[in-house]
Amino acid sequence: MNKNNYLFKSERLGFRTWRKDDVEEFAKLNADKEVMEHFPKLLSKEEVVIFIEKLQSHFDLNGYTYYVTEILGTKEFIGMIGIAFQEYNTKFTPAIDIGWRLKRSAWGSGFATEGAKRCLDYAFNELGITKIISVCTINNIKSENVMKKVGMTKIGTFNHPDMSEHPDFEKHNCYEIKSSQIDFMK
Ligand SMILES: CC(C)(COP(=O)(O)OP(=O)(O)OC[C@H]1O[C@@H](n2cnc3c(N)ncnc32)[C@H](O)[C@@H]1OP(=O)(O)O)[C@@H](O)C(=O)NCCC(=O)NCCS
Repeated sequence: MNKNNYLFKSERLGFRTWRKDDVEEFAKLNADKEVMEHFPKLLSKEEVVIFIEKLQSHFDLNGYTYYVTEILGTKEFIGMIGIAFQEYNTKFTPAIDIGWRLKRSAWGSGFATEGAKRCLDYAFNELGITKIISVCTINNIKSENVMKKVGMTKIGTFNHPDMSEHPDFEKHNCYEIKSSQIDFMK
């Protein structure tokens, strides 16, 4: 597969797998305090290299991942939106979740909601997935708003097991959507 090609597109966005040359742009975003406000720490460039390898391996293994998200036309890298299999131990998992992390300059344009809707459409209609969850810390209102805007329903809160050493980030909301609930698609 040509790694420059988009797997699928929305009106304004293209979604593709990861390349080594995504490190620079993705590292900037992961070193931005505002973008990382709801995570316990910023990521170093070395950590971003490992993160990208994990995202690409996830795609190779499962056929989906949190995709590189670009603006069509300009090919500007704006961050990642996509789906991933989550195995951490809670009453809501194992499950496939949808997630998003965009660079600050790409906020406020509706890109996260547009991209999330298209990823749900792709997951349900192309990949045959039947249920997707999404989680965020209880203070991450912008992320929770995206969940609401794409039609997800809150199913509860939980303490994220990966955050047990970071009490400020431990309590999470969990939302879900089923393929049968989709009303913004075909
Ligand atoms: C969470 C995140 C992706 C949300 O981004 P966002 O740009 O706020 O989300 P949306 O795509 O829904 O855009 C909504 C905003 O775009 C505006 N907008 C402008 N043009 C629009 C359009 N054509 N369509 C829809 N909304 C539009 C809306 O009015 C809204 O503005 P507001 O925030 O001032 O109310 C972003 O804040 C982010 O990357 N955060 C850091 C990483 C993170 O926390 N990820 C989640 C971890 S669980």
